[in-house]
Amino acid sequence: MANSSNSSRIPGFYRLPVEERREQLRLRADLSAEDMRTLDDGGIDTAVADRVVENAVGVYALPLGVGLNFLINGHDYLVPMAVEEPSVIAAASNAARMVREGGGFIADADDPIMTAQIEIIGVDDPAAAKARLEAASEELLALAHQTLPRLADRGGGARALEVRTHPGRIILHVHIDCQNAMGANMVNTVAEALGDKVARLARGRSGLRILTNLCDRRRVRVEARVPSRALATDALDGEAVRDGIVAASLFAEDDPYRAATHNKGIMNGVDAVVIATGNDWRGVEAGAHAFAAANGRYRPLAVWRAEGDHLAGRLEMPMAVGTVGGTLHAHAGARLGQRLLGVTDAKTLAMVIGAAGLASNLAALRALATEGIQRGHMALHRKSQPLPVLEPPVAASWDGPTSPATDGGQS
Ligand code: MEV
Repeated sequence: MANSSNSSRIPGFYRLPVEERREQLRLRADLSAEDMRTLDDGGIDTAVADRVVENAVGVYALPLGVGLNFLINGHDYLVPMAVEEPSVIAAASNAARMVREGGGFIADADDPIMTAQIEIIGVDDPAAAKARLEAASEELLALAHQTLPRLADRGGGARALEVRTHPGRIILHVHIDCQNAMGANMVNTVAEALGDKVARLARGRSGLRILTNLCDRRRVRVEARVPSRALATDALDGEAVRDGIVAASLFAEDDPYRAATHNKGIMNGVDAVVIATGNDWRGVEAGAHAFAAANGRYRPLAVWRAEGDHLAGRLEMPMAVGTVGGTLHAHAGARLGQRLLGVTDAKTLAMVIGAAGLASNLAALRALATEGIQRGHMALHRKSQPLPVLEPPVAASWDGPTSPATDGGQS
């Protein structure tokens, strides 16, 4: 539910038994009996799996939880998160509560532009080929439009061409507005439909024709301003924690080894929502890390600074996700995830996912800058004892020094 009438703050949610949490959710999101069954079976059975992949033998499940306290551009969202790692959901919820104290997340997203790459090889005169392709851009765009008539009817379609040259190859980029779809199939269809004509125009041979996952025209930006006092722990005042988080950000900005882990913390939140809403997390991961390294050096996707008595964070990254197509037709769990969130357009979904990433990053840095992330380990260990696992989880907890690992973050 884009629960503008219902807050995403549900104090004490984490203390409720699972059945009562589900009842809260049922009431807030108006879930049916079938939806409730989907929460149990994950939304896909072996018969469906057999239609979706090859050599299917069953299904693989992940825990599904709800990220709380997310206020984004003035709207509340209950954020579905599918993840196996303890603490991720509590940490994101806890950080979202702190961000809420500063007015919530402010987010925006680019139009949903994905890019087809058409490679042409064996070109004798790349400069002349580039000029001929540019001169034919209207014709090529019209052909791309004809290839995707339904997308054009919905207001999307090919928007622009770009010709890039590398030694030994020319690459034509076709930028396509995919509306609410992630768009991989549509973009690949255009790439294959245009390939031969583009090769003829360039007087070369058609090479690869496929989308790029470095969809840097489809970025999300999310900002958060947290009053320093909201960051305080039992041992440290808010200013000290704020400064520790800024120092942690600077470390990631200086050092690619640290930046990789910093970004992993962001992807904890991002992937959990990407998966719960039925999107392609491999594509989002590929885009995130290619973007992080785009300037020749691997950089953090989010950075933090002190601004007066606030901590200010800013995330920017590609976000290729959709609210239609993909696995949604087959996966009842993905459809339910989107319904819980109440988001029907791809841009808003991208903003929610970006906010989950920024929240996860804030939680991790706050824990690292104070007492480390291992404090919750024993609590997790105790919680997991009755489970018939072969080995106890060794995952760390970074849901924040003031809330134990079992705290849903909304205390
Ligand atoms: C663990 O899943 C994520 C962290 O390592 C992220 C970080 O170090 O910023 C805690």
